[in-house]
Amino acid sequence: MTKRPTMTTTAGAPVPDNQNSVSIGPRGPLLLQDYQLVEKLAHQNRERIPERVVHAKGSAAYGTLTITNDISRYSKAKVFSEIGKATEVFLRFSTVAGERGAADAERDVRGFALKVYTEDGNWDLVGNNTPVFFVRDPVKFPDFIRTQKRHPSTNLRSATAMWDFWSLSPESLHQVTILFSDRGLPQGYRFMNGYGSQTYSFINEKGERHWVKFHFKSMQGIKTWTNREGETVVAKDRESAQRDLYEAIEKGDFPRWKFCVQIMPESDAGKTPYNPFDITKVWPHGDYPLIEVGILELNRNAAHYFAEVEQSSFSPSNIVPGIGFSPDKMLQGRIFAYADAHRYRVGTHYEALPVNRPRCPVHHYHADGAMLSDIPTRGDAYYEPNSFNGPVQEDRFAEPPLAISGDAARYDHRVGNDDYKQPGNLFRLMTAEQQGRLMDNLAEAMQGVPVEIVKRQIVHFYRADKAYGLGVAKRMGVEVEALSEAAE
Ligand code: NDP
Ligand code: HEM
Repeated sequence: MTKRPTMTTTAGAPVPDNQNSVSIGPRGPLLLQDYQLVEKLAHQNRERIPERVVHAKGSAAYGTLTITNDISRYSKAKVFSEIGKATEVFLRFSTVAGERGAADAERDVRGFALKVYTEDGNWDLVGNNTPVFFVRDPVKFPDFIRTQKRHPSTNLRSATAMWDFWSLSPESLHQVTILFSDRGLPQGYRFMNGYGSQTYSFINEKGERHWVKFHFKSMQGIKTWTNREGETVVAKDRESAQRDLYEAIEKGDFPRWKFCVQIMPESDAGKTPYNPFDITKVWPHGDYPLIEVGILELNRNAAHYFAEVEQSSFSPSNIVPGIGFSPDKMLQGRIFAYADAHRYRVGTHYEALPVNRPRCPVHHYHADGAMLSDIPTRGDAYYEPNSFNGPVQEDRFAEPPLAISGDAARYDHRVGNDDYKQPGNLFRLMTAEQQGRLMDNLAEAMQGVPVEIVKRQIVHFYRADKAYGLGVAKRMGVEVEALSEAAE
């Protein structure tokens, strides 16, 4: 057997005894000079960082994104440059509302946050398992999240808060319909789709822009639990999704997703009957078909949960040449929010940690700040512009200009937006059994909510599809006569 290394303090001094503190006599008291004890207790006090304000409970793994189809006519991003090209990725799944110790098999949206370590820097696609979202203006996000978290007095989740907010925010109807449908409670992370959800842009070598939506279709198939099945799972295993993902990868059963895009010519944006930058809307497949791009595979578990999964930091602001933003208001808000969260949650130099560190060289002028771990070697070139060979900008990476005009104002996001057609389409594509389970789940979730809030919400269901409104009203024991009048 090889000799085991000698244990040391963090300063490198050998540790003679890690089982017994230094005491005066066998019964104590202890001596403050026992620095090994002090270091151990003090370190433990610092072993947690703040949990993510949303998406706190998560699981992740490394893998590859392999290109199977040439889309270089749309994007010059190096990740898409040739068929067969494989780029390393890290994918973190999560639930949204629960805290760091929440159970996995709860009805909730799932996060699908992908970091692609490209040659031109990290491309982060921070999406969900749903193609749409509850609100379309970032100014509403903190209020929405409050309704998902705990009530300030009772410290309990509040169905009243959720339905009050949703019923007063009809743009949420599409996402609410998905959340309470079968897909709102996946059997595990392997059995759900991923969506970039927001609208991004592709830029090609000629400097042409297309709008793009990203889709990841599970090759394991969609598998979901009913509420009752979910309860049984949670009673036995709070970590069901973590366990399923980790164990599948350990035994070589690597989960895969078909990576697809929808592409919209730049000039179509003014022509669609819906706002293509509105995250409460999908682009119908009939108008913008899915184009297959590649295969996403997860094939390596993280070695250390805290170092890699907890400290992983994803941000929609991380784009690379060939992939850009769009006017999507929610995306614009998120471009600020994530990196700001990381600086607070993880620290100033979060991008230098192994899981976040780009796999390409980085050349920037940010240095000082808590926990700088690399020693900058720029010498006299510590500002820019300089005459000392420091890194410089390259205008070939500039995006083509985007024509935007209009008056700055607070535009009412309700005006000119149909909140009902697409949720109705979704309801109508479900089988009668799926519709029944959706309406059962909704009625169950609205139990105990004040009747005026329930009625206000049922009007939204009715506007999407009469059968939808009437079905929920019946289950809630709510008078249906006045529905058509209220829905006018
Ligand atoms: P399609 O018939 O071409 O597509 C329907 C889509 O709905 C499929 O992608 C299907 O996913 C998905 N789907 C089926 N059941 C559910 C569910 N319970 N929750 C979420 N998605 C589900 O129709 P359209 O493109 O015209 O869209 C019609 C409606 O389908 C939309 O209003 C939207 O609600 C929903 N949808 C559309 C998407 C899009 O990008 N166009 C994406 C996802 C949903 P799968 O193929 O995996 O079975
Ligand atoms: C996590 C903000 C909308 C998907 C987070 C975090 C913040 C945040 C602050 C925690 C980041 C961290 O501490 O690491 C916002 C704001 C939004 C918004 C301000 C709206 C304006 C969305 C939307 C999606 C989404 C629309 C999906 C399309 C995620 C995911 C995570 C996350 C997947 C977890 C990332 C991870 O695994 O670390 N969000 N969010 N968010 N958000 Fe959002």
